[in-house]
Amino acid sequence: MTPLRSLLALAAVVHAAALQLPRQSSAACPAIQIFGARETLTPQGFGSAITVIQLIQAQFPGNATTVAEEIIYPAAGADPDDYAQSMAAGVAAVVRQTTAFSARCPDSIIVMHGYSQGAQIIDNAFCGGPDLPSITSSGRLVTAAVASHTAAIILMGNPRHVDGLPFNVGNATEPGFAARPAGFACAEFEDRIQAYCDARDPFCAKGDDADVHQGYGTQFGREALAFVVAALG
Ligand SMILES: *[C@@H]1O[C@H](CO)[C@@H](O)[C@H](O)[C@H]1NC(C)=O
Ligand SMILES: *[C@@H]1O[C@H](CO)[C@@H](O)[C@H](O)[C@H]1NC(C)=O
Repeated sequence: MTPLRSLLALAAVVHAAALQLPRQSSAACPAIQIFGARETLTPQGFGSAITVIQLIQAQFPGNATTVAEEIIYPAAGADPDDYAQSMAAGVAAVVRQTTAFSARCPDSIIVMHGYSQGAQIIDNAFCGGPDLPSITSSGRLVTAAVASHTAAIILMGNPRHVDGLPFNVGNATEPGFAARPAGFACAEFEDRIQAYCDARDPFCAKGDDADVHQGYGTQFGREALAFVVAALG
C-alpha cells in the first residue's frame, strides 16, 4: 500500500471504531489535522474557512480526533505590494506549518482548506508557482511527507481559478485575477482538490457580486464535507 492508501485505511478503521483513536497514535496527535487559511483583510483566525472546518469537526468530533490549525500569515492586500508580500509569507507559512506538523505527527492525515487569498497560498504551496511577483519557482513546495499524507484540499474563491481544470466546481468560466496559465495542471493533487468558484465572483472569476465570493461555505459547504469524508475513506 502507498502511504496515503494505508492512512486512508487507518482513517476507515478510526471511523469504524466510532472515532476512537487508534492505539498506535500518540495522544498529542489527532487522526485528522485541518489547516485553515483565511481571506484578505480578515483578522488572524480562520476567516470564512471556519464554515467548512466546523462541518468537518462536527463529522469527526473531539479534539483527539480532529484539530484545526490556522495558517499564520498577514492576509494583507491593501495594495499590490502588500498582497505580494502577504502571498510570499503565506506560502512560506503553509510550508513551514505543515512541515512542522508532519515531523511531530507523521501518521496523521492532513486536510487543507483555504479561502480566497488563503486558497491561493495553499494552491501555490501544493501545485507550485510561479505566481509573480511573490513566487518565482515552479513545482511543489510542501514536503513529500506532507504531500503523501494530505487527503483533501478544499479551495474556495481561489484567485488562481482558470476554466477547464478537473477539480473545478461551480459555474465560473472567466479566470480569476491571478489565474493559472493555459496548459496548467496539478497532476499530483488533482484527485484530492475541489475548487469552488461561481461566475459572479469578482475575485476567482470576473463577476460583480462580492457576496457570491463570501458565500461558498453556505452554498458548497456540505458538498465539500462530502468530498472530505469520501477522501478519508
Ligand atoms: C477543544 O479544543 C479547543 C481549542 O483548544 C477548546 O476550546 C475546547 O474546549 C476543546 N474541547 C474539548 C471538548 O476538550
Ligand atoms: C451560477 O450558479 C449560481 C448559483 O447556483 C446561480 O445563481 C447563477 O445564476 C449561475 N450563473 C450562471 C451564469 O450560470
